[in-house]
Amino acid sequence: MAENQDEKDKLLDHSYDGIQELDNHMPRWWVIGFYVSIAFAFVYMFYYHFAGGPLQIQEYENEIAAAKSTSQQVQAAPSDLKALTDKASIAEGEKIFVAHTCSACHAPTLGGLVGPNLTDDFWMHGCDFTTVMGNIKKGFAQKGMLPYGNGKPMDESELQKLVSYIFSKHGSKPAGAKAIDTAREVKCKPKA
Ligand code: HEC
Repeated sequence: MAENQDEKDKLLDHSYDGIQELDNHMPRWWVIGFYVSIAFAFVYMFYYHFAGGPLQIQEYENEIAAAKSTSQQVQAAPSDLKALTDKASIAEGEKIFVAHTCSACHAPTLGGLVGPNLTDDFWMHGCDFTTVMGNIKKGFAQKGMLPYGNGKPMDESELQKLVSYIFSKHGSKPAGAKAIDTAREVKCKPKA
């Protein structure tokens, strides 16, 4: 009975083809949400379109710039590294050369097997210290050399010792060294 009375109060006094409607108000939470979103739209519009907040294009360009500067840092970071010449570092470099299976492809003498001779003045991918570090880091996957030789990462200081070891063997003229690939290797004197 009470419900019927309630409905009568809400019944709007029009009828379309016998269809009548009740004047039900939107729930309070909905109405609040509605006004809050209108208010938010003004704040949003003000911030992004009048106060100079970054628009999508700007945000995109910022991210690209940030990514570029970090990737440059990664490439530039080792540039101040030089060949170490102390016995302990060279000995450690030699251990790494074996542990990372470099010796399997470049021979324990570094004279070359599947991979090229690393002791001579002829290189395919450059021969200064940091270039060689970079080449070992990325490997030559299409030729079978994984990053870091066996795919297991090493840190910058291990890489430095490894290349120091390789450079220490420069000019050692190992017996049975692999022939120079004149089509691809160019003269290059390893520089620390
Ligand atoms: C599975 C065989 C394989 C292993 C393991 C391997 N290499 Fe290589 N490496 C190669 C081959 C093949 C090339 C020649 C790439 C080319 O033809 O472009 C090469 C190229 C290189 C070069 C560039 C030489 C140049 O002439 O510019 C360096 C430096 C090098 N390797 C060092 C290493 C070191 C250090 C390790 C261990 C951490 C290692 N390699 C492990 C096969 C290997």
